[in-house]
Amino acid sequence: MTLKAAIMRGKRSVYEDFWALDEVSFEVPVGSTFGLIGSNGSGKSTLLKCLSKIYYPESGSISAYGKLAALLEVGSGFHHELSGRENIFLNGSILGMSKKEVTQKFDEIVDFSGVEHFIDQPVKNYSSGMYVRLGFSVAISVAPDILVVDEVLAVGDAEFQEKCRQKFIEFKNAGKTVILVSHSMDTVQQMCDKAAWLKNGRLVQVGEAAPTIQAYLGSLTTGSV
Ligand SMILES: Nc1ncnc2c1ncn2[C@@H]1O[C@H](COP(=O)(O)OP(=O)(O)O)[C@@H](O)[C@H]1O
Ligand SMILES: [Mg+2]
Repeated sequence: MTLKAAIMRGKRSVYEDFWALDEVSFEVPVGSTFGLIGSNGSGKSTLLKCLSKIYYPESGSISAYGKLAALLEVGSGFHHELSGRENIFLNGSILGMSKKEVTQKFDEIVDFSGVEHFIDQPVKNYSSGMYVRLGFSVAISVAPDILVVDEVLAVGDAEFQEKCRQKFIEFKNAGKTVILVSHSMDTVQQMCDKAAWLKNGRLVQVGEAAPTIQAYLGSLTTGSV
């Protein structure tokens, strides 16, 4: 439940219970790259929001060891009227960095994002690709132990996607954990050791990436499950 939902709850007359996630249970090994797959509306983003403590599960629990940084929907954590520069500080502080830390990392963040020419423009003028570049650059600059990324990276161009891929490999080599949602089965196949397949909020399969992807793709063609 978000703050908005809590406030609006009293005003709603018609109310229907809907479980976005139910009986989803799995472990992500430290240092692995873990893919979440499944059709639209299967609960992937909701699960990532639970991991990022934006939502709290009504029952069950989530345990994580280490610092977690997340890149969720395009533009989340950004203020539209503020400039790219100001948003780096805003976003950095949301992710737990001090002003001093952000100042130290500022050039590196801008450099990786590739939006330096537009850094003093309000971000409302940015393209969605530019948002994601900046958001991803801030998220990785906090040096998280666990990086959670929703399907947003797909809006970046080929060059940026390659940069992100390199960054994930760097992360992996440093023993960090990455949890990502992608609709590109090629990406999941290439990058992930393990994967979980969600359907209608339930876990259909979890395990090694290749057989999980195969099972998901198989269900799409045969219409089974
Ligand atoms: N805030 C919300 N209020 C009501 N339903 C929601 C909310 N967020 C997500 N849902 C519903 O939960 C389901 C899972 O959504 P989501 O996690 O965004 O799926 P995915 O990311 O896999 O496409 C969908 O049916 C969606 O409509
Ligand atoms: Mg989603």
